[in-house]
Amino acid sequence: MFAAPGRVNLIGEHTDYADGFVMPAAIDFATFAAISPRADGKVIIRSENYGEQVEHAANNLPEIRSQHWSDYPLGVLAVLREEGVRIPAFSMTLQGDVPVGAGLSSSAAIEVATMAAVLALAEVKIPLPRMAQLCQKAENSFVGASTGIMDQFIACCGAADHALLLDCRSLQFRLAPIPADVSLVISNTMVKHTHAGGEYNTRRAEVEEGTAILRRHRPEIKKLRDATVDDLKRWGGEMPENVLKRVRHIITENNRTVAAADALERGDLKTLGRLLYEAHASYRDDFEASCPEADLLVELASKQAGCIGARLTGGGFGGCTVNLVETAQAREFGEKLRDGYKKATGIDPDIYLCRASAGTHEIEA
Ligand code: GLA
Repeated sequence: MFAAPGRVNLIGEHTDYADGFVMPAAIDFATFAAISPRADGKVIIRSENYGEQVEHAANNLPEIRSQHWSDYPLGVLAVLREEGVRIPAFSMTLQGDVPVGAGLSSSAAIEVATMAAVLALAEVKIPLPRMAQLCQKAENSFVGASTGIMDQFIACCGAADHALLLDCRSLQFRLAPIPADVSLVISNTMVKHTHAGGEYNTRRAEVEEGTAILRRHRPEIKKLRDATVDDLKRWGGEMPENVLKRVRHIITENNRTVAAADALERGDLKTLGRLLYEAHASYRDDFEASCPEADLLVELASKQAGCIGARLTGGGFGGCTVNLVETAQAREFGEKLRDGYKKATGIDPDIYLCRASAGTHEIEA
């Protein structure tokens, strides 16, 4: 049995596919994949969460998606096959408690848990960063969501009590300890979001459009990671307003993410908190990927005692906000946030007091 965690992104939103920086932490919600070999040539994958199973011949697995939960594990099998891994016959049961559609990467958790389990059964070893890339490929080419590398990477390489600063170009990373007196409180707007199709892909297209405009002037700009605020000042006027704003978010977010990692490493929580709030404003106003419910949660959080910083986390358009809160105040903070949100919206939000957790690992039976 293998586990792969969900994640919360502390800062660095929509920067991964711009070859930039992200700083997520794995959380203590996970998907578990229990696998055993079969002798009849079949692949049977069961989801305890959906109460359903799919059945295929191991030598005749689907090559295209069917817009079903099984696209995630089957996408992983398709990618492994392309890598030359012979898929053995097996039964696998998936069960997880990562909230779905909450921006906490339930999909990456399924992909990574599946890959870890299948590789173990096939007796094939692949380094964790490469596993992350392959799981991303499954999501991009099979599931059809053009997401970056962040979620799969943190599900593979996360570490207990640490945030991970990832350079999405080189895949080099550094772990920064989260101090014991700082808690990760996650608050769920209960507004669902999805990546497949939707706004996420629209944002990506806008970002590509802006990158192409800057590249005309500076061909060395391969991705927005290579662009500066100064480039934007010079050539941003050639972009449609919406594109300019998306690009501005990403360029400034990259700078904030690197600064936030430095602040966390220095123990400068004040600066870290300020950067989180600034990141939220940029996500809301420039990237226009927030929603009124998330804005409200961040505003309510900012008024509570013990709140260091707060922002909408994940792909956007709903999902959760992440709050860095002084541990001594975390429980009360969560209760006040819930009360305030409920009063204003009539919605009872889920509040999770999380711990930064390890990446994928085997669970001993
Ligand atoms: C989703 C994607 C990630 C990343 C975030 C936004 O979680 O899966 O690759 O782009 O959105 O930061």
